[in-house]
Amino acid sequence: MNTNGKIPLVDLVTLHQELEEELVSVFRSALKTAGFVGGSVVGDFEREFAEFCEVHWCIGVGSGTDALRFALIATGVQPGDTVVTVPNTFIGTTEAISQAGARPAFVDIDERTYTMDPEKLRSYLETECARQPQTNRVVGKRTGSPVTAVIPVHLYGQMADMDPILDLATQYGLIVIEDACQAHGAQYFSKKKGCWRKAGSLGRAGAFSFYPGKNLGACGEAGAVTTGDEQLARRCQMLRDHGQSRKYVHDIEGYNSRLDAIQAGILRVKLRHLTKWNEQRRKNARCYDELFAAADGALALPYVPAWSRPVHHLYVVGMADRDRLRADLARDGIDTGIHYPVPLHLLKAYEALGFRPGDFPVAERAAARVLSLPMFPQLLAEQQRVVVNAVQSRIAKFRPMGEALYPHMGSPK
Ligand SMILES: Cc1ncc(COP(=O)(O)O)c(C=O)c1O
Repeated sequence: MNTNGKIPLVDLVTLHQELEEELVSVFRSALKTAGFVGGSVVGDFEREFAEFCEVHWCIGVGSGTDALRFALIATGVQPGDTVVTVPNTFIGTTEAISQAGARPAFVDIDERTYTMDPEKLRSYLETECARQPQTNRVVGKRTGSPVTAVIPVHLYGQMADMDPILDLATQYGLIVIEDACQAHGAQYFSKKKGCWRKAGSLGRAGAFSFYPGKNLGACGEAGAVTTGDEQLARRCQMLRDHGQSRKYVHDIEGYNSRLDAIQAGILRVKLRHLTKWNEQRRKNARCYDELFAAADGALALPYVPAWSRPVHHLYVVGMADRDRLRADLARDGIDTGIHYPVPLHLLKAYEALGFRPGDFPVAERAAARVLSLPMFPQLLAEQQRVVVNAVQSRIAKFRPMGEALYPHMGSPK
């Protein structure tokens, strides 16, 4: 690894250097056949990724945002509907809702996992929604808009608490689409089903991004929908390809958002390494947990409930002096990130929805405190020690030793 002594947040160079020959041969064989769009390589990747996610169907598309949009449209979300999600996610989640013609609504997150708090979803459905007597449909009391779907976001590589979310969805007739864009291979122990389940296999559909920095990343833009529902899969196949069921047979209008063959070939190469890479991320997360154990209480370390086997897309800590620490680490050559600095309900893009600071206090507090530390499979233990020493020496200066910022939060499992 040559990073001039700096420690990057994500090192995409080393990974691609390691695979260079295989990746270049994907490009060479695409040139030989001029098979740039569609073809057997796309189908092969779709089969292999479906198997990885333990679902019947995978539909390769142009991005994670399009995967979410097509999943929403294909499951029957209508223009004017309301789709519920969380405020601390990438804007792609809510863009997809708006692009499907629907309106995003938010519920707050759990303060330890940073994912959708099922109790907040319950409270939203019980207090802010009502059932229409004639149709029994659930509508927002303020907007009159039918609430038809919910998108839990599996953030930072950890799945949302799906059992209670799925129960509420059944009770209120909501479609569940998993935003699994950061969770390739993450698992959830479903008590209802009595087994571990992969991200993208629990909702009506799952949506993945293969943006280069993801656990499974293309060398460009790409995404996929996963589902166990054949009809839904067929509809997504049409939506990504101008609404075609066969060449020039357009039963509906669709979009141009196919997964291209070179990206599919690259993803096939990388998919063979994904389980190993996820394991290396887990090892790195354990290493951080152990090294940070000495600073117990001064930092909120990632919390992993018993029902979760995360894949550590990001290693996110929480602290009060986040911005100061981040600037100091940058001076030391340690790159960090903030995922995400502004909760979606407070973005200018969503001004018209009329939300105010204080509406989702847990997400707002998280936005002010979270810091993503370097995390990628090839991260070295030595680099992790440098990061942890730098963080700990700064924290010791910021506040008296032993003062807990998050006394209510236990240490990580
Ligand atoms: C949680 C989440 N949702 C949606 C997206 C959108 O994916 P894409 O950038 O591939 O459109 C991303 C990508 O960053 C994401 O992290």
